[in-house]
Amino acid sequence: MVKLFLFRLGSLLSLLILLVWEAFYSQNEANYAESNNFKRQNVYTFTENVWKNSHQTQEQRKKSLIDYCHKRDPRELLPPYTKNHEIPAYYFRNIIVNDNHKLLYCYIPKVACSNWKRVLMVMNGDAADPWKIKTADVHNRSLGYFRYLNQYSPEEIVHRLNTYYKFLFVRHPFERLVSAYRNKFVDSYNYTLFKEMYGRFIIRKYRRNADKKSLKTGDGVSFSEFAEFLHNSDSEFMDWHWKQYDTLCHPCLIYYDFIGHFENLYEEADQLLDILQVSDTVNFPRNKTSQYKLSTKVIAKRYLNSLSEKARKNLYDKYKHDFEMFGYSMGDYL
Ligand SMILES: *[C@@H]1O[C@H](CO)[C@@H](O)[C@H](O)[C@H]1NC(C)=O
Ligand SMILES: *[C@@H]1O[C@H](CO)[C@@H](O)[C@H](O)[C@H]1NC(C)=O
Ligand SMILES: *[C@@H]1O[C@H](CO)[C@@H](O)[C@H](O)[C@H]1NC(C)=O
Repeated sequence: MVKLFLFRLGSLLSLLILLVWEAFYSQNEANYAESNNFKRQNVYTFTENVWKNSHQTQEQRKKSLIDYCHKRDPRELLPPYTKNHEIPAYYFRNIIVNDNHKLLYCYIPKVACSNWKRVLMVMNGDAADPWKIKTADVHNRSLGYFRYLNQYSPEEIVHRLNTYYKFLFVRHPFERLVSAYRNKFVDSYNYTLFKEMYGRFIIRKYRRNADKKSLKTGDGVSFSEFAEFLHNSDSEFMDWHWKQYDTLCHPCLIYYDFIGHFENLYEEADQLLDILQVSDTVNFPRNKTSQYKLSTKVIAKRYLNSLSEKARKNLYDKYKHDFEMFGYSMGDYL
């Protein structure tokens, strides 16, 4: 049964990948035509300029993503055990489906995903005010607010991938890792699950002369221990909070229409809501404390500096595709 599903999905998806490439190139042509129109008419009002710029940013991001994807070995985009270019349905489990708005959102933990889920709930009529939705409820799958793409039949999956508007938000991979590390292992965060699940394991495996107490509680994992743990983890089985964008959202297999950057979150969230024509119904929640700040970078640098050069390089290598696909670099972190 599973095998049959995989097979059918696989053949449908081989077709889909072709369609995706085609869609990209034809859309690109359409965009060039559009920008020529802009020039000919010579009407540059303020709004049009802003729109044009954001449009170009999107096209650039998508183009450099596709360029990078073309350079990759296609075999590494699929799990090692598949044959005949079959894509397993679980590749789509991070993609939230909104059938009312014909929308697919691949959510990435630590990249404003709670707030995007809130926005989707408001768009779906499940809530009136994004602020009133509790974070615990947003992430509670048993409340059934969201459907995920892997829950559909192969035909339904392909139909949605081909016709729905697809988006995701990414951020500098090192900053996301630091954010995940601080959130799960450092903050006055009294949820012990991560310390029990990972902290104890990390300390046992990567700390020499660990004392009894930390072996028992999993408290006090250092960033360099965390980095070593990541370096030795199998990407397929990583926790969602630090799993690569590549293996969460498969941007080299799925053509995303909109690639948002967390570094510019509020502006790009507004652009996207405009594109989706829902700006009248919902605003992206703005929170001063969670806005991207310069200090985010300063804090991330401090943690990255606590690593040896080799460990930093190892971490980069582990997340290389995420860096390259979305135009981030080691830059400031060297
Ligand atoms: C998720 O929602 C269910 C149903 O309301 C509830 O029983 C459960 O405690 C919730 N889980 C969490 C972690 O909040
Ligand atoms: C976390 O739990 C410890 C021990 O139960 C307690 O002393 C501390 O105040 C708690 N911290 C927060 C932020 O809730
Ligand atoms: C902003 O986010 C923080 C942390 O997520 C939260 O504690 C705070 O209450 C939020 N601020 C507002 C105005 O809701």
